[in-house]
Amino acid sequence: MRGGERGPLAAAEIRTPRLALRCWQRGEAPLLKDAIDSSLAELRAWMPWATSEPAPVATIEERLEGFHEEFAAGRDWMYAIFDAAGGRVVGGCGLHPRRGPGVLEIGYWIRTDLTGRGLASEAAAALTRVAVERHGVACVEIRCDARNLASAAVARRLGFRHERTLADDLTATDGTLRDTMVWALFTTRYATSPAAALASAVTWRDWPAEPLPPLTSPMECP
Ligand SMILES: CC(C)(COP(=O)(O)OP(=O)(O)OC[C@H]1O[C@@H](n2cnc3c(N)ncnc32)[C@H](O)[C@@H]1OP(=O)(O)O)[C@@H](O)C(=O)NCCC(=O)NCCS
Repeated sequence: MRGGERGPLAAAEIRTPRLALRCWQRGEAPLLKDAIDSSLAELRAWMPWATSEPAPVATIEERLEGFHEEFAAGRDWMYAIFDAAGGRVVGGCGLHPRRGPGVLEIGYWIRTDLTGRGLASEAAAALTRVAVERHGVACVEIRCDARNLASAAVARRLGFRHERTLADDLTATDGTLRDTMVWALFTTRYATSPAAALASAVTWRDWPAEPLPPLTSPMECP
């Protein structure tokens, strides 16, 4: 990956035809809580962090500060997914460098009342483009519980290839061992992929290369 430890190559805000993806800001905890609390059954089924939901607003606010800190330090990039008008939290997603050099993993969730409209695919396609064109990775990954058909369908729809399934890889949210599907899209195949076609209208604002100010004032994306 280009850019070194601080990761100044991140995108601060990403626009798709229907969505705005940007780093979480202070004060958005109630909006996030509403999206989570209205989607608890689906999130708890697949997302380990959701087993401790519903959480108080103050706890979620602290979480957002942590996301911002990681984002600013170039360690991990969690994005809020807003509708294009910016008023409603549609879900969350992220680019995670936890699979080693040259690889970014994409995660996503969509609030239940807005699923089935192609929004996860739109967000994940946008992140794939940013990973390839902004971060310069060699490979983008999506990992999901092998039983999570909706998530696997997102990866397949974008042209990711099912590379392998890791047996008994993790403890699922119900306490049983789960198999994990590993989906990958290599940069060499990106240009002709469905992900690239779906992200053709995507634009973004770069995260600044200079250090961010400390979080003493309202949290803001530059
Ligand atoms: C998985 C999730 C993000 C999908 O969001 P979405 O916005 O509905 O996804 P899309 O509308 O882009 O659909 C993508 C594909 O999934 C398919 N799909 C949706 N729900 C499905 C289901 N329950 N079973 C099988 N396929 C399903 C759609 O048909 C579509 O495939 P297609 O293009 O071949 O028709 C959403 O259901 C969610 O947030 N689930 C809970 C959290 C989660 O599982 N996150 C992923 C963790 S790895």
